[in-house]
Amino acid sequence: MVMVDIFLGESSILQEISMEMAEGEVIAILGANGSGKTTLLKTISGLCRPRSGEIRFNERRIDRLPPEQIVRLGISQCPEGRRLFPYMSVVENLQLGAYWRLRKGEKVREDQEKVYHLFPRLKEREKQMAGTLSGGEQQMLAIARALMAGPKLLMLDEPSLGLAPLVVQEIFSTIRQINQGGVSILLVEQNAVMALNVASRGYVLEMGRVVLTDHRETLLKDERVRHAYLGG
Ligand SMILES: Nc1ncnc2c1ncn2[C@@H]1O[C@H](COP(=O)(O)OP(=O)(O)OP(=O)(O)O)[C@@H](O)[C@H]1O
Ligand SMILES: [Mg+2]
Repeated sequence: MVMVDIFLGESSILQEISMEMAEGEVIAILGANGSGKTTLLKTISGLCRPRSGEIRFNERRIDRLPPEQIVRLGISQCPEGRRLFPYMSVVENLQLGAYWRLRKGEKVREDQEKVYHLFPRLKEREKQMAGTLSGGEQQMLAIARALMAGPKLLMLDEPSLGLAPLVVQEIFSTIRQINQGGVSILLVEQNAVMALNVASRGYVLEMGRVVLTDHRETLLKDERVRHAYLGG
């Protein structure tokens, strides 16, 4: 059971956020620029510290743990803007995603084959420098690198940003495949329609607060969501 409860009181960026997710779920986090989506993900992965409240993962409290330990417990983040190492090859970027596992002497070869199976284009470009990949390929590599950590929960920060519609379709169909493989997904998106196509539920953030949460069908019909994010 993957459970994430967050109560961040007093923090100027996120306030009294309360959310939870069950194992195997895909949850969408929607919200305008500056609403706190990235900060929320960073708080879960231990890069930002909540001033109060707690975060639990599989019943275990993680909000005081260092980021690397949170990764090892099974939470992996694919950051906004991809953050690849541009002068390193595709395969080197992937191996950095498995850094902690390699240090423990774990075999990651099988996982590498799995991500190549998900993203055949990355295998074709294994030796190519990451910085020379197309935008879509870079996003694929960023997701693949996050998967190399062997997560139970994968957090994706705006995977569709700056990509052509066809590439976005491709990325989202892979996200669905990753979830079908048993990985829970927390999906931050401004593209609400795409996000709610794969997610079963969503949370809408506004100025660091959850202003709305519901199942996908209800959110897609909601006036506020339509107005703000669906151009309705
Ligand atoms: N390190 C920081 N120091 C101070 N303020 C910050 C910091 N990081 C973020 N903020 C502020 O917190 C708010 C939320 O930022 P955040 O990046 O979480 O938003 P977001 O929803 O991810 O936005 P976007 O859609 O543009 O990515 C913004 O007002 C931002 O300026
Ligand atoms: Mg952001």
